Amino acid sequence: MQLNIQDTSLFVEDVGQGLPIMLIHGFPLNHEMWHPQITSLSAFSRVIAVDLRGHGQSPATEGTYSMDLLADDCARVLEVLQVKKPAVICGLSMGGYISFALYRRHPEKVAGLILAATRAVADSLETKNNRDKAVQNVIQSGPEAVIESMLPSLLAAHTFTESPELVSRIQAIMSQTSRSGMISALIGMKNRSDSTDILRDIHVPTLILQGAEDQIIPLTESKSMQAEIPQSELKVIPRAGHLLNMEQAGLFNQSVEDFLRLRFIG
Ligand code: MLT
Repeated sequence: MQLNIQDTSLFVEDVGQGLPIMLIHGFPLNHEMWHPQITSLSAFSRVIAVDLRGHGQSPATEGTYSMDLLADDCARVLEVLQVKKPAVICGLSMGGYISFALYRRHPEKVAGLILAATRAVADSLETKNNRDKAVQNVIQSGPEAVIESMLPSLLAAHTFTESPELVSRIQAIMSQTSRSGMISALIGMKNRSDSTDILRDIHVPTLILQGAEDQIIPLTESKSMQAEIPQSELKVIPRAGHLLNMEQAGLFNQSVEDFLRLRFIG
C-alpha cells in the first residue's frame, strides 16, 4: 500500500498480527529484499516493511536523504499505521544507520533493535571519497554502473556460483532504485553522524547479526557494537556475506525468531 508521509508517499507492506517489527532495507535495495523474512516472521508477528524514498515503489524527492530524514519517515509510517506499541526495528546496513537515528530521535517507538551487517561509526575519509565517486558514476553512467560495481562486494563468493538465481533477483531489486534516489542516499550516508556515542545508552534488547563472509562490514565492527550496547548479543551467520538475510534466509530467520521469542513473545 502507498502511505502519505510528510512531503511524499511511501510504499509499505504491512502483514500479520502481534508484536510489530519494522524492516528497513539496505542501499540500493527495497522492501523486496526482506521477502524471506516477511513470509516467515508474519506467521507470529506484524511485519512492516518500507520502501525508503527514492527506492522501490516510493518516489524520489529532491535534496539529500539524511539518515535523520529517513528515520523520521519510518517513525511517521508507524504513526500512520496506528502502531500503538513500540516496535522492534530491524535494519540492514544503511537500514542500520537509520535504526540508530530512529532510536536517537524517537526512542519511545523502539522496543528492540536488530542490527544486521551494519556499523555505528561514520564514514572514513576514504569511504566519503568513494561515495563522491559513486555519485559521479551514477551521473555519468547511470545506476546500472553503480549496481555492477557494488554487486561483487554484497555477497559471499560462493553465492555467485551456487545461487545465480538469487544474484539475478538482487540485481533486479537494485535496478528499481531511481537515479536521484541513489544520489540522495549516497550523500545522506556520507554525511551521517557517528553513532558510537549512543551505543552505551541503548537500553533495549538488541540482536547484532553479521555474515561470516561480509566484505563490507568487518566482524570487529559488530564485536565492538556488542561490547558497548548493554543488552546485546552477537550472532555470526556462516556462509553469508553482506546480504545475509537473503543468502542464509533460514539461519537469519531462526536467529531473529529465537531473539523475539526469548525477549518479547515468550
Ligand atoms: C548497504 O548495504 O546499505 C550499503 O552497503 C551501506 C553503505 O554503503 O555504507
